[in-house]
Parts: sequence; structure tokens; C-alpha cells
Amino acid sequence: MQPEAIGQNLLDWYAAHQRRLPWRETSDPWAIWISEVMLQQTQVATAIPYYHRFMHRFPTPRHLAGANVQEVLKLWEGLGYYSRARHLHRAAGVVVSRYHGQVPDDPAIFRTLPGVGDYIAAAVLSIAFGRVIAVVDGNVKRVLARLFELEHPVNRSGSHKFFQPLADRLITPHQPADFNQAMMELGALVCRPKNPDCGHCPLFGLCRANRNRTTADYPRRDAA
Ligand code: ADE
Repeated sequence: MQPEAIGQNLLDWYAAHQRRLPWRETSDPWAIWISEVMLQQTQVATAIPYYHRFMHRFPTPRHLAGANVQEVLKLWEGLGYYSRARHLHRAAGVVVSRYHGQVPDDPAIFRTLPGVGDYIAAAVLSIAFGRVIAVVDGNVKRVLARLFELEHPVNRSGSHKFFQPLADRLITPHQPADFNQAMMELGALVCRPKNPDCGHCPLFGLCRANRNRTTADYPRRDAA
């Protein structure tokens, strides 16, 4: 493993190739939280108009907490996974009643909010507050599995516990927000599930699967 080389190549690539997305134009933790909740189960292109409508109607936790849940669900219509919207609504209520309407930057506190699991905590705390916590989602697992030819199935329950320490070793402590977004971006744009674009990958020379021509064999999956 060459964590420094991997981190630097990744950050250089991200600086040059990242998509300009609305939630990347802000450092508002509320906006970043909303975007990450949407992106957890929804493609970027689908999420964008929902993100704009949601932030327009609920620009702060206080606006959301004060709304009727039916209105919140209505704005969510079409995105699916409606528990995400219900959790956000409840979380906004807690943020207002206990934390003066400020999104908590303390991981131990943020993690207690409804709907906040490993992914949302890592994404929001790193991107909005610069906390050095590695994000592990499906894209990140695929990148890691190919980079190191990992045999651990990505769809096995508890696989998060296997991948998290690897991501934690790679994360660049001076730029955790960029590192996490770069890993997800690489998985989405280059290290795609099918037809990965290895010729344009910043980790080309560091990737075991690329070297051994095994990219199509990773990530491993347990049969359904
Ligand atoms: N997928 C989910 N969140 C993302 C982010 N912040 N950047 C790129 N892809 C993502």
C-alpha cells in the first residue's frame, strides 16, 4: 500500500476533473447534509432538482422542523426511500430543540440524530467540518477492492467493518473533504462497475487489479 501516492494522485485528479455540483458550491453543513441524504440512494442527476427545491423551501433546520411532515414527503415524492425524509424532519426538530438550530460538528452528537449512520456521519462531518473520517459507500468499496484485489465480498453484511480501516489508512488528513469526494467521484466516473475507464484513472500505476488484468473480477460478491 502506498497511501501518500494514492492520496496525492487522487487529490490532483479531483482538482482537475471533479464535477461542479450545487452542494460543492457551499460550506453550509445543512445543505451538505441534505445533499448527502439524497445521494445515498439516488443518482446525482436525479438528485439535483430535488436538492434545489428542498433547499429553497427549507433553507435551515428551523424551516424544516417547522413544516408539516406531509409537505416534506410531498417535496420528496419521486426520490423514494421516504424514511430518509421522515428522519431528516425529525433530526431537524432535534437540532432546533437541543442545538440552537446549528448542525452539531461533534461526531458523538451528530451520530445520535435520526437517520445518521456511518455514511452520513462520515460524509457530512468530513465535507462540512473537515473531520478526518473516511467515507465508505459502494463506490469507495469498489475502488478499494480493485486497488488492492480484496477478496472480501462487498455485499456481505458487516463488510463496512472490513473496508473502513483501509479507507482510514488512505484518507489525506489535510484534505479529508476532497479525499472522500474524490474517492466517490472516481468510483462514479472512472472506476465504474462495468467498463471502468482505467486509461484515465489517476491510480492506474498503483492498482493491483489493473496490473493483473483482473478489474472485471472485483469487487467480489457473495451470490445472492
Ligand atoms: N455520492 C454521494 N455523495 C457524493 C459526493 N459528495 N461526491 C461525489 N459522489 C457522491
